[in-house]
Amino acid sequence: MKGFDEMNKELKAIIFDLDGVITDTAEHHFIAWKQLAEELGIAIDRTFNEQLKGVSRMESLERILALGGQADRYTTEEKEALAYKKNEHYKQLIARMTPDDILPGILDLLRELKRNHIKIGLASASKNAFTVIERLQIGEYFDTIVDAANVKHSKPHPEIFLTAAEQLSVHPSMCVGVEDAQAGVAAMKAAHMFAIGVGDREALKEADYIVETTKDLTYDAIVRAFYRE
Ligand code: BG6
Ligand code: MG
Repeated sequence: MKGFDEMNKELKAIIFDLDGVITDTAEHHFIAWKQLAEELGIAIDRTFNEQLKGVSRMESLERILALGGQADRYTTEEKEALAYKKNEHYKQLIARMTPDDILPGILDLLRELKRNHIKIGLASASKNAFTVIERLQIGEYFDTIVDAANVKHSKPHPEIFLTAAEQLSVHPSMCVGVEDAQAGVAAMKAAHMFAIGVGDREALKEADYIVETTKDLTYDAIVRAFYRE
């Protein structure tokens, strides 16, 4: 006997993470955190940075401070000031972005999804998500945008993906999620969505399907992977 999900298996929506999937702001976040960490005498590298991807601003700061053995060094107000400083640097970096900063293949994919009447959602942990989408001039493609302001729990909690699915009126089993972060892949799996990881195979090994770059994220490849599952 097939279960509900198998009988009704149909791809109806794709929910994208933003930073590191639609555009390379994951790199801007890394640059801004690295600078702040250096000022605090803490060295962070790309391997450690995998643990910051998809994670909220304050949680990222906590992880950096813990790495440097400084977890108890600052008051809440001081930590807020540090996070504010990082964000000011990050805002400077994204202020220069243009539609040319959309990652390869993404615009074609968004167009192809529209042509095939697949709903499109965005699930971003960033409070800067709307600014980035505006800079890239792709707001029109999204049927819903859920950002850090709309949810209580951070990834890896499934709330952000479940909220996006609900707003699209699509059952999670009929949604595909796309993420570049370990925490994001965990969130999509916890939401019972088909999880696509973009980037490092080792870091994203929990995903149902992995592509190394967004160039490989074509509509055909996604459809094939989804129905093969
Ligand atoms: C996520 C990024 O999308 O947003 C994280 O992957 C980032 O690196 C988080 O820390 C929060 O972003 P912001 O813009 O609110 O500081
Ligand atoms: Mg990301």
